[in-house]
Amino acid sequence: MVDPNPQASGGIQALRAAGLEVRVGVEGDRCRRLNEAFIHRLTHRSPFGIWKYAMTLDGKIATTTGHSTWISGPASRQRVHQLRSQCDAVIVGGNTVRQDNPNLTSHGVGDRNPLRIVMSRQLNLPTKANLWQSATAPTLVMTQFGADADVERALIQQGVDVVHFECLTPAAVMANLYERGFLTVLWECGGTLAAAAIADHAVQKVWAFIAPKLIGGKDAPSPIGELGLEKMTQAKELTDVTVMPVGQDFLLEGYLSASPAEMLTDSIAELS
Ligand SMILES: NC(=O)c1ccc[n+]([C@@H]2O[C@H](COP(=O)([O-])OP(=O)(O)OC[C@H]3O[C@@H](n4cnc5c(N)ncnc54)[C@H](OP(=O)(O)O)[C@@H]3O)[C@@H](O)[C@H]2O)c1
Repeated sequence: MVDPNPQASGGIQALRAAGLEVRVGVEGDRCRRLNEAFIHRLTHRSPFGIWKYAMTLDGKIATTTGHSTWISGPASRQRVHQLRSQCDAVIVGGNTVRQDNPNLTSHGVGDRNPLRIVMSRQLNLPTKANLWQSATAPTLVMTQFGADADVERALIQQGVDVVHFECLTPAAVMANLYERGFLTVLWECGGTLAAAAIADHAVQKVWAFIAPKLIGGKDAPSPIGELGLEKMTQAKELTDVTVMPVGQDFLLEGYLSASPAEMLTDSIAELS
């Protein structure tokens, strides 16, 4: 495939001028999928966002009491650990820390852990939590100016980094992570933050684990909070959708913005 990086521009012509045969577009869709995060980062100046969640067959991500461990089975959770090991950061909202006390590591699958990020505007967070064990993996808390100073001190003492924003939004967070050189960011939040991330175009790919379980509950949370859409014609349609069985669950993968197949087709046509 054509490298979208301007610094690599002219590379194909240089190779051809040196007498080498260069074919462009061989297994083009697969190449673009393999490089989807890199292409997105370069063309949108933002990391590639993956939103992953697990829900029951009746569309719930927790019970009415907020309990959510475990919706998906061991094989699905193993896939998530693998995915985390391939991501630069994993993000949750303050409420998921309060409700679930997650670890968000790759549990030894793969050779690295992502940077664990918590978005919390007020820092109304517990001072003891699995995420604050910074010896396991690094954790960064993103908050706003004026947040609880006592909690901030308690987190810093445990080795957690804290950064402040004027206004904490998924778009501002993605801009910060772009500046850090990050390629792939995994959103593992609940519905409130997921809605904000989708509205801010911080999500490009969706991984939905669907477990063949029913939990019910009129007020049990669903994957996305308020998006402000009123008509079914306004629904955000996924593209390039695939469904695969994982243990007893199903993993549905799809794209919320241009799929890899739609990326860069112009530049490929130019050079092929
Ligand atoms: N099944 C799954 O895949 C899955 C995954 C994750 C969570 N869950 C479940 O989801 C429930 C929690 O969901 P939730 O929707 O309440 O929590 P959430 O979306 O994870 O977190 C919401 C919190 O994010 C923080 N936040 C910071 N900036 C924000 C912004 N710009 N917009 C929105 N939120 C922002 C706020 O924290 P502060 O209040 O601290 O400021 C807010 O309360 C729990 O029951 C958990 O078990 C399920």
